[in-house]
Formats: sequence, C-alpha cells, structure tokens
Amino acid sequence: MRNLTEENVTEAVINTFANTENPRVKEILTSLVKHLHAFVREVELTEEEWMYGIQFLTRAGHMCDDKRQEFILLSDTLGITTLKDIINNRKPPGVTEYTILGPFYVSGAEEMPAMANIAGDTPGEPVVISGRVTNPSGQPIANALLDVWQASAEGFYDVQLPDQAELNLRGKFRTDAEGRYAFRTIKPSFYPIPGDGPVGQMLRAVGRHPYRPAHIHFILSADGYEAVTTELFVEGDPYLDSDAVFGVRGSLVVDFVQHDSAEKAARYGVTNPFYTVEYDFVLQPLS
Ligand code: BEZ
Ligand code: FE
Repeated sequence: MRNLTEENVTEAVINTFANTENPRVKEILTSLVKHLHAFVREVELTEEEWMYGIQFLTRAGHMCDDKRQEFILLSDTLGITTLKDIINNRKPPGVTEYTILGPFYVSGAEEMPAMANIAGDTPGEPVVISGRVTNPSGQPIANALLDVWQASAEGFYDVQLPDQAELNLRGKFRTDAEGRYAFRTIKPSFYPIPGDGPVGQMLRAVGRHPYRPAHIHFILSADGYEAVTTELFVEGDPYLDSDAVFGVRGSLVVDFVQHDSAEKAARYGVTNPFYTVEYDFVLQPLS
C-alpha cells in the first residue's frame, strides 16, 4: 500500500477493514469511508475547508455537557435524526407517527389524575386536550401511559430556565377503561432551538431560521404495544412547513379550537376564553 492515488485510496482504506469481527461494524465503516471519500472528491475539499470542518466539529464537542448535546442538534438540523427516525419507525398507515424526541425530555414527571393541569400557574391561554388511545382496529387501550411535556407560552422548557419550577409543564396520564385521556395545559408557542453554538452559526450561514413550530411532546406506552414518541403541532403555526429539525408530520397537526363560554370554561375548570384539542392516538401491537 504505497503511492496511493485519487483513484485507489478509497479501496485501500476499505481493505483495511477486511478482518473486522463484527459484520455490522464492517458494513458501517465501509459505507462511511465510501461516502466521505465521495464527498471530498465531489467538492474537492481544500486544506482550509478541511481545517474549518475539523474546528467546527471541535467547537461542537466543546459545547457538549450533560445538558447540551451539540452533535445531536447538528444531526437534527441536517435531517439525519428525522431520516433515522423514519427508517426505524415504519408503521402501517393509521398508527400514530413517530417524531423527534428532542433534548428537553426529563423522566420522572408526576402521574396525575385525568384533567389535571400540567401548567400550574404558568401564564398562557388555557387548553383542554382529550381523546382516546386505541389499537389499529379502534379498540380502546386501557391503562396506557401518556408522558407529556412542552414549552411555555414564551417558548421555554422548565430545564432552560433556572427559576422555573422543576417538572413544570410535564405530567403523566393514564387512559381509563374506554381508552380515554384528558388533561389541561396552556397553548405552546413556537420557539428557537439553541443558536449560541456552531449549529446556530451553520443556520445563519445558510440563511435558515432556528424555529420549531409550536408543539406538545408525548411518549405513549401500553402493555403489549410498541411505545411511540410523538408530538402534536398547532394548526396555523407559521413554522409548520419550515421546522428547523424537520419533525412535522401532517397526521400530527391539530386544530386548537377556541371557545368563548364562561359556563363551559367553569365546567372544565379553566379561565375563559380557552381552547380544546381532541386527538386519538393509535398504537401498534407488539409483534
Ligand atoms: C424539541 O422539540 O424539544 C427539540 C427537538 C430537536 C432539537 C431541539 C429541540
Ligand atoms: Fe419541543
């Protein structure tokens, strides 16, 4: 292996993987080298560009700690996370679609009774969210768990603000015997993904905005069913068709129906005016 050329250097590197014990490691490394070499050839990467890329990745690494993961944000904003999610969550039509988990999930939210308010006294427009969890034939799934979290009306998760109550705007709910769930919250807002690192720099360099359309996150699970991580998006949000992390699925966009009735509001235990959202989730039985 001497005097390698533009033409044979890729093959020479791939040959060095010949004795890899794990066949999947071999497949992944071989493909990675093929595609990275093809990229370098296609753009004819210069010395300065190569060094810029190395420094970009180094800065991304320096941004990472136990709360911030700049590499995942990079994967999210380049659509890699969503492509991986689509490949790994192929489901028959009608089953609730998976979408991006994001960095703001915290386990350990409190289990609450139906109609509890996950927003506490956080300012915002009240919303009552309800519906059913069923199997693909429409039969109710009792005792399914909905783990819910969202940003405030100002677009911040509790973990982003040191003065916000821990586990604010988070809660767990169980479905009843008819598969029904219901809870109260506030209408979320669109918000920017963190833009103070190399990912923000990349978005600005290509003229992209950093916003995610308003959404509420869910992880649904039930015995005998595949769990699904998903989100409900607010119909009419200005960023539905330009989500910074490519997570919007049409089946997850819901109407927030506005009501102006003091009597109905009192019945729901919310202030007037308020919104209602109805959404039925469908889980796939374990195979
Ligand atoms: C989120 O929806 O919480 C999120 C997803 C990906 C990147 C940043 C935030
Ligand atoms: Fe989010």
